[in-house]
Amino acid sequence: PEIILLWALLGYIIGSIAFGMVLARVMGLGNLRSIGSGNIGATNVLRTGNKKAAALTLLLDGAKGAVAVLLARAFAGEDAAQVAALGAMIGHCYPIWLGFRGGKGVATFLGILLALAWPVGLACCAAWAVAAALSRISSMGALAAAASSTFFMVLFGYGEMLLLGIALTLLIFWRHRDNISRIRAGTESRIGQKG
Ligand code: G3P
Repeated sequence: PEIILLWALLGYIIGSIAFGMVLARVMGLGNLRSIGSGNIGATNVLRTGNKKAAALTLLLDGAKGAVAVLLARAFAGEDAAQVAALGAMIGHCYPIWLGFRGGKGVATFLGILLALAWPVGLACCAAWAVAAALSRISSMGALAAAASSTFFMVLFGYGEMLLLGIALTLLIFWRHRDNISRIRAGTESRIGQKG
């Protein structure tokens, strides 16, 4: 059990590196908190108008999830990989460095899935892309990817990660509760629209 706790903590620390915040600061893009949704993720970095910074945020926030999983798996096996995944998502959403006010976990979730079960990861990326393309709303992509993840786990034979999938899906929906209200009110901002 101590080992598992260690991987949860390590996952948390890796996940808590807020790349969007770091890049926005380093590249002089302003304070993400006062831009758009105020979120620290790639979607909100894109609202600064800097596509390169947004792509880098997506890539790095995704990579940290994958790194947490791959490290834990290499050193301690599949259970540790799942625990590290959960740790990384909690780290991204509730980072100690930002007073526990973190992101919504979508890029990290996709990186985790690609590392844990790549067919599920690819299918969820596709679900994100289709929903985002149809709606022109990033959070719609996120909700579609999260909602379909457990379905893809069953479909591709990864039932052993179903519990983790349910937990991460619930966390993503919880973190998107303001987005969900805006979608329902018809006021959610579209991709490519600033502010
Ligand atoms: O990844 C977060 C995305 O789904 C929504 O971001 O900034 O529109 O709240 P945002």
